[in-house]
Amino acid sequence: MVRELFEPDSIAVVGASKEAQKIGHIVLRNLVSSGYQGSLYPINPKADEILGIRCYPSVADVPGKVDLVVVCVPSAFVPKVMEQCGRKGVKAVIVISAGFKEVGKEGAALEHQVGEIARTYGMRVLGPNCLGLINTQRRMNATFTNIYPREGSIAISSQSGAICSVLLDWATKTKVGFSKFVSVGNKVDMEEADILRYLRDDPSTKVIGMYVEGMAHGTDFMLQAEETSRHKPIIALKAGRTSTGAKAASSHTGAISSGDKVYEAAMSQSGVIRVRTIEELFDLLLVFSNMPMPKDGGVAIVTNAGGLGVMAADACGDHRLTMASFTPATIDRLRSYLPEEANLYNPVDVIGDAKADRYDFAIRTVMEDPNVSSVLVLLAPTDLVDIPGVATMVASYAGKATMPIVTCFAGGEDASKGVHILREASIPNFESPDRAVRALSAMVEYQIARSRNVSETFHTYQGDQARVRAVLDKVRGEGRVSLSEGEGKEILRAYGVTVPEEGLVDTEDRAAALAARIGFPVVMKIESPDIAHKTDVGGVVVNIGSEEQVRREFNLLLSRVRSRTPRARIDGVSIGRMFSGREVIVGMVRDDQFGPVITFGLGGIFVEILKDVSQRIVPLSDADVADLVRSIRAYPILTGARGKNPADIPALRDAIMRVAQVAQDFPEITEFEINPVIVGDEGQGVGAVDALVTIRRESA
Ligand code: COA
Repeated sequence: MVRELFEPDSIAVVGASKEAQKIGHIVLRNLVSSGYQGSLYPINPKADEILGIRCYPSVADVPGKVDLVVVCVPSAFVPKVMEQCGRKGVKAVIVISAGFKEVGKEGAALEHQVGEIARTYGMRVLGPNCLGLINTQRRMNATFTNIYPREGSIAISSQSGAICSVLLDWATKTKVGFSKFVSVGNKVDMEEADILRYLRDDPSTKVIGMYVEGMAHGTDFMLQAEETSRHKPIIALKAGRTSTGAKAASSHTGAISSGDKVYEAAMSQSGVIRVRTIEELFDLLLVFSNMPMPKDGGVAIVTNAGGLGVMAADACGDHRLTMASFTPATIDRLRSYLPEEANLYNPVDVIGDAKADRYDFAIRTVMEDPNVSSVLVLLAPTDLVDIPGVATMVASYAGKATMPIVTCFAGGEDASKGVHILREASIPNFESPDRAVRALSAMVEYQIARSRNVSETFHTYQGDQARVRAVLDKVRGEGRVSLSEGEGKEILRAYGVTVPEEGLVDTEDRAAALAARIGFPVVMKIESPDIAHKTDVGGVVVNIGSEEQVRREFNLLLSRVRSRTPRARIDGVSIGRMFSGREVIVGMVRDDQFGPVITFGLGGIFVEILKDVSQRIVPLSDADVADLVRSIRAYPILTGARGKNPADIPALRDAIMRVAQVAQDFPEITEFEINPVIVGDEGQGVGAVDALVTIRRESA
């Protein structure tokens, strides 16, 4: 049925009109003028023919089968048309009409109705409130845009009609071609995941570009994106922010888990390359669609101006693209041809008076170097350079180069004399060295993500589920949604996360006796289900070294906490062995679209201020956990910066996996935070010294 949407043998346009300004007329005209070869049926009860094509009063009156219907009538009539389509046995419908959930409650109800009818009859629906769909292989322009792109290898899925128009206009200017072009609109039925599933197997699509604002079924998207990105790159521009995650969060994790970071994690885990601007989307589509993938090695830069070369080299640092170091043979060859003033090392400077021959020699020579995997050609419009000549020479590499070759002909008027030649030849040209380097680095990024994607391993941990169930039942039985620290730790113990030895006491004498048994130094903490952030109310005392100190601090702690939170239920004071190491935070928040999301960062009380955290969506592969831990800026603190011993990172990863397993096994847990987890030196393990758990009110 998705096939009928993209490759229909027959199309009916409901709402086709003789009036040239009406959308129904434009859609029909576009189908005719793009050269669509299947059967076309305009539907309009008042006309006999439109554009010379026989018209029918309704879909039901069409004599043969209809694969696809494009609906261009006001929203109120759409359910009725959908019913007619269903009865006719139509397989796919594009609803261009606006006036659905984007306009409020009534529109949303109408949209729901459209979805229900589609489900009843097993039809697939694109839209409503969309621009339509283009399939250049079928010469099918089922949209109301006047731009029909040339045939090419880029497929686009966009949630915004406006972005569709921008992309089509850009394609015209840059001579870029599309294979498929899909405007998804309100996504009552067809979503990005469905489109990816189709595009994955579409031989004419080499690269997929997406514009996304939000998603209702994040995990479906991840599944399809992960599978698709193994075969072809997906580049996504994600705009807008969702309100999930941070919603009514009581933990630090919740407060710092913005919807945007969750999307970031989802895309990174499923091999999608995320871009931040529309220019970056253009740039990456250009390079991926026109160039072969780079093999192992670095970039060689060939320039006629030192300044551009330096900027490109800086950009390589910024975008983590390796600059190739040339073999002695390459340097010798370059020396044999280039003038004495030329720089023979990367960036190769062929200097300001270079003509096409010098550029050509340098490009050919570096391409033969085994350490080179891509070439960036820079050109500044000096008085002596032959811009069209150099462009024509570079253009001759199109389709022949075995590695990416991209250019930056910098400047404006003069540079443009070369740029149009490069465009015609489909050599990606960028306006700045930085943009060119970013595009090349994205190719390397994709290669790495793809190889990682193929070799993923997942582990499951067998926790003591009955023990956790008993804790949760008790909490729910008491009408609570927040667990006490002790209850949270009970869950951690049941899943094999180390919790330093501790006990709960209610008198000064018992506190002193317990501390003596555990061994000094100890930590003393208030135990209350009503206090989420103990340090904020003076509820934690660390490094207590003697029995007398225990007695003194016990009384001070209680009076401090009582005066600051008079209404909190206090279950006692916990005395625990002081565990030393580096403090990190491990948290989980359940996201509406993506499910459990694990957050990791440097712990303690500064986490909300510094926001140095990374996130990954459960389930976590080994590579995901490694990435999660490695992605924070403070990672060197864990690996042993400034002569310190490295921390026990394997034990930390293991603890994170176990928390992720708890989240998978108990869907009613909405938030779980261990702040801090103390990570000992290598081989010493980790200790969870706090646990904050929240559950959903009703049973999941
Ligand atoms: N079956 C067949 N034809 C029908 C019909 C039906 N059930 N109901 C109405 N029609 C005919 C009308 O008679 C009219 O034909 P006519 O010009 O010969 O009289 C034609 O269909 C169009 O209907 P009309 O009422 O004139 O609507 P319109 O063309 O002014 O607007 C939409 C219709 C769908 C374009 C408009 O409602 C709309 O949603 N516009 C916004 C679209 C948009 O922006 N989409 C998102 C882009 S990102």
